[in-house]
Amino acid sequence: MRGDADASFTLPDDAATARAGAALATALGGGMVVTLSGDLGAGKTTLVRAALRARGIAGAIKSPSYTLVEHYRTSSLYFYHLDFYRFADSGEWETAGLAECFRDDAVCMIEWPERVASLLPAADLALTLALPSHGEGRVLTAHASTEEGRRCVAAIAQALTPAAAAR
Ligand SMILES: Nc1ncnc2c1ncn2[C@@H]1O[C@H](COP(=O)(O)OP(=O)(O)O)[C@@H](O)[C@H]1O
Ligand SMILES: [Mg+2]
Repeated sequence: MRGDADASFTLPDDAATARAGAALATALGGGMVVTLSGDLGAGKTTLVRAALRARGIAGAIKSPSYTLVEHYRTSSLYFYHLDFYRFADSGEWETAGLAECFRDDAVCMIEWPERVASLLPAADLALTLALPSHGEGRVLTAHASTEEGRRCVAAIAQALTPAAAAR
């Protein structure tokens, strides 16, 4: 099926961001690419960490902002958590072997995708976290481009109260 869908959700506190991540985790499958946009401190790493925890990853889950990529493995899937905040030049893409992250048996969750836009495969799901214009918490916007992405949005919607359905 084609066609894109957007939805947005209010995340009043940390716990809500974690619920969104855990809900996302239930719908992740091999080959999926999820991008996370938003300023520093918007909650991208918090959401990914919750998703990884929900998939049974124990131990430290570090932000990959210095390493570009952190990888995790479960019995059924690999998870790559990428962060391009410090990405300097496209040569790093090659030297770090990042193309190898994008495989049928792996899920890629990518912070700062804008910095490598031309190098990334198309995302199933583009998430954006932002501070609301007034009030506390965060606003999560989800843009699904594939059926798999739409399943993620549905899982998040089920776990959260939608703020508004944008179109
Ligand atoms: N919904 C929320 N409301 C308020 N604070 C939040 C929310 N979600 C996350 N936070 C906080 O915002 C900060 C986000 O940090 P982090 O996840 O590292 O951001 P990013 O990876 O986008 O730079 C953390 O201190 C986290 O506790
Ligand atoms: Mg981060």
